[in-house]
Amino acid sequence: MKELTSADDLLLLFRAFYARAGKDEFLSPFFATLNLETHLPHIISFWESLLFGAGTYSGDMMGAHIRVHESRAMQTRDFEQWVKLLHQTTDDFFEGEKATELKNRAQQIAQLLSLKFTGKIMN
Ligand code: HEM
Repeated sequence: MKELTSADDLLLLFRAFYARAGKDEFLSPFFATLNLETHLPHIISFWESLLFGAGTYSGDMMGAHIRVHESRAMQTRDFEQWVKLLHQTTDDFFEGEKATELKNRAQQIAQLLSLKFTGKIMN
């Protein structure tokens, strides 16, 4: 098991995450038309900015999900499944402080998004 220390680690993690999400009963419809090669640099810069202070993310995270929600409504169970899958994928590849921080931040952000889009607090 390895510590999560770089953008390359994040790339490995999120490739594995999206491979699993693509087969997931609840999540796959959201990612069916997503161009992964275009999306991955955004998600990597988002996470390397949060975890390593890289300052490379200049996207509009909330706006992106407003558009997702308009075309397909996200429900509390979708956020719960997203977090569960990301936690599992992280634990399958990484350990240590940054891996734990990624899981905690993902949970917190998912809670905020869930509250915003569903009006309900996720588990
Ligand atoms: C039900 C849960 C979620 C679903 C179905 C979902 C789905 C998506 C989709 C389809 C996109 C691509 C939008 C586009 O470019 O057209 C996206 C972008 C993104 N998502 Fe999520 N998402 C979820 C939760 C989260 C959470 C909890 C986080 C953060 C912890 C997150 C972080 C991001 C980021 C950083 C982007 C890139 C935004 C940009 O292009 O700058 N997502 N999401």
